[in-house]
Amino acid sequence: MSNETLGIIGGTGWLGGSIAQAVLAKALLPAGKLVISNRSGSHPLAQQGVCLVTDNQALVNRSDVVIIAVRPEHFTNLNINATGKTVISLMAGITAQVIAVQTKASVVVRAMPNAAVEIGQSFTPWYCFGEVGATTRSFVQRLFECVGTAAEVQAEDFIDYLSALSGTGPAFPALLMTALANQAMVAGIPADIAQLAAKNVVVNSSQLLSSRDAQQVIDALVAYQGVTAAALQAMTQGHFEEQVGKALQAGAAVAREGLQVG
Ligand SMILES: NC(=O)c1ccc[n+]([C@@H]2O[C@H](COP(=O)([O-])OP(=O)(O)OC[C@H]3O[C@@H](n4cnc5c(N)ncnc54)[C@H](OP(=O)(O)O)[C@@H]3O)[C@@H](O)[C@H]2O)c1
Repeated sequence: MSNETLGIIGGTGWLGGSIAQAVLAKALLPAGKLVISNRSGSHPLAQQGVCLVTDNQALVNRSDVVIIAVRPEHFTNLNINATGKTVISLMAGITAQVIAVQTKASVVVRAMPNAAVEIGQSFTPWYCFGEVGATTRSFVQRLFECVGTAAEVQAEDFIDYLSALSGTGPAFPALLMTALANQAMVAGIPADIAQLAAKNVVVNSSQLLSSRDAQQVIDALVAYQGVTAAALQAMTQGHFEEQVGKALQAGAAVAREGLQVG
């Protein structure tokens, strides 16, 4: 268990709330070392011994480490002074430099989890802005391991690029699942069967990939020279990978362009 007091601004939202619940469930911190804030001042977490406040500066004053988990457009009006504190931002598209200037934090970390924090299955890349000590790095890694896997990256731009990749969480699988089901229905498969089949491919069959190398799975199935090979070949000829590349670059461009604050 860590000694730090953790404050989560926006600690009742999708990401902030999931992280708050996970640090308690994984016993990273006791409830008494967790402070969360939102504007309404109410949330069931407050019944678990967590301190819930509406005053963000009060949260910062009580905390050693402050997570900013509000939406980017709400950052401008936060008005916190985090001098001497470590600030971890989950916000897409706001640079560490802007966060450091606006919050006066001594240490800024940018992290990019995804919606699967809710089920402990996020991948969270994180980046340290400036000199950050080993103790803080270790805490950040353990913090995000409470909601899945995590890894430090060495360039801030990787966070912007990965916002469009792992940051999108279930979005690409959802798009694929919808396309598979829609196309099956177009081909005359009943809707309920089409949806079961598509869900199986994306959610269930894909579990095999947790223990097998993806390229080896592709090679093995293509080697049959049958149905799967024909289907995947059609995807490849349709420039599937180039389309994925364009999608990632489009998302990353928005993250790099960022939210204009100030
Ligand atoms: N969702 C994702 O998949 C995802 C993925 C990667 C990164 N992110 C980043 O994570 C951040 C949070 O996203 P989210 O989806 O968790 O958003 P969300 O569900 O809307 O949560 C935002 C939280 O912030 C609170 N809030 C808003 N203004 C506040 C203020 N001034 N002071 C204190 N609390 C305030 C809101 O509560 P009240 O309305 O009660 O104040 C709400 O609980 C965003 O910056 C986003 O870029 C999200």
